[in-house]
Amino acid sequence: MTFRDLTRTDRLVILRYPGGKAWLLPMLRSFVRVERPKIFIEPYAGGATIGLSLLHQDLVDELVMVERDPRVCALWRRALQDPAFADEVRTFRCSRPNVEDVAAHPERDLAMWTLVKNRCGFGGMLDAGLLNKRDERGLKNRWNVTNLYYALRQVRALSGRITLIEGDGIQSLRKLNSVANAAFIDPPYPCNDSPAMTRAPQKGPRGQPWDTDRSACPGFRCPGMVDQ
Ligand SMILES: C[S@@+](CC[C@H](N)C(=O)[O-])C[C@H]1O[C@@H](n2cnc3c(N)ncnc32)[C@H](O)[C@@H]1O
Repeated sequence: MTFRDLTRTDRLVILRYPGGKAWLLPMLRSFVRVERPKIFIEPYAGGATIGLSLLHQDLVDELVMVERDPRVCALWRRALQDPAFADEVRTFRCSRPNVEDVAAHPERDLAMWTLVKNRCGFGGMLDAGLLNKRDERGLKNRWNVTNLYYALRQVRALSGRITLIEGDGIQSLRKLNSVANAAFIDPPYPCNDSPAMTRAPQKGPRGQPWDTDRSACPGFRCPGMVDQ
């Protein structure tokens, strides 16, 4: 498989999250086409699918991803800085023993651990277990190596226009608050009846039901781009 053979898609999806927001892309694309933001901020980055996809389509100048989970940050640091990471992912054989081996050793390679746990774990949750033992096909389907390889190569190619901040999203929003910028705010879900969601954090660090605060970004041109 060569890089040229890969499918070009309009979205860069590396991490999967329950309730993924890729379906919002067409609407957000029309927004940024009217007024191109200088900096597009994802204060709760996770997979940052929206920001990465807009950058990939050259609809924003720069992307700032803010993430406070060090495991997710480890993945993004490798993806942005290590030219060999995409190949490491391409050559990984997604068999049950290999997945279990990576999942048992976060200390060996935290970036790979995060990717494997997110894609092959229950509901994409890093703290949850792996997919059901009987679901071998499901496990392989989650490791869409062609798309992953292409997306990782693209992220690395765009890395000069991406800033990763390991910290609190709201603090960064306050700092970058400007009419020239735009943000997509997708905080963790506080509650949901599905088994995956009941393991998600229910409250923000200050005890608020949503780990977000709209008053942090009054100057943004699109306050409506707050999900949930
Ligand atoms: C719902 S996910 C975001 C999914 C993302 N929009 C996507 O499409 O992949 C929320 C993410 O925000 C992170 N997070 C939670 N609280 C945060 C905070 N205060 N600052 C920065 N990131 C935070 C979580 O670790 C998680 O990765």
